[in-house]
Amino acid sequence: MTESSGNPNRTRPHRIVLVGFMGAGKTSVGRELAKFLAWDFVDLDERIERDERRTVREIFATNGEAHFRRVERKALEHVLRECQGPTVLSVGGGAFAENGAAELVSELGAVSVLLDASVEELRRRVNMGGDTRPLAKDRQRFSELYRLRSEAYAKAQHRVNTEGKSIPRVAHEIAEWAQKEFVPPAR
Ligand code: S3P
Repeated sequence: MTESSGNPNRTRPHRIVLVGFMGAGKTSVGRELAKFLAWDFVDLDERIERDERRTVREIFATNGEAHFRRVERKALEHVLRECQGPTVLSVGGGAFAENGAAELVSELGAVSVLLDASVEELRRRVNMGGDTRPLAKDRQRFSELYRLRSEAYAKAQHRVNTEGKSIPRVAHEIAEWAQKEFVPPAR
């Protein structure tokens, strides 16, 4: 189910930012969604890893989370400013929860879409994937972060419940919504 806050985006640039907690499926859904829409796709963590020539895990281990957040914020702004054509951008779980990030995303003309699920479901998905995420190691911290971030995630302009749904199904729901929300892009 796609729930819209009712803000028409027909005249806005064609940019969708997929946000949500670890395990929400942002990268997989983003890739599939971009294919459905024939838009470009960027995964922010992959972009950071490419630019930094090391993994997110290595950045956390060597320079700490605060450094990662600075790199992440710069990358977010850079990608949203530089993308030319219609673009789907998936961002890591903390990117949209940082101070001012939601505002930055909308100032730069992008529409944020929250991929939502219960913390139990997210934990299950993360465990299934043989976890390498620095912030998913501790069960209690995972739940606490989920709770702390819920207010920030609620700033997303649209929310999609992903519980019990396949990746193609979620992507398809967002694609259907996007086709109504955005006029066909001039490429
Ligand atoms: C993080 C989520 C990760 C990655 C980093 C930090 C977070 O991305 O950016 O490990 O703070 O929630 P995913 O949400 O894609 O796992």
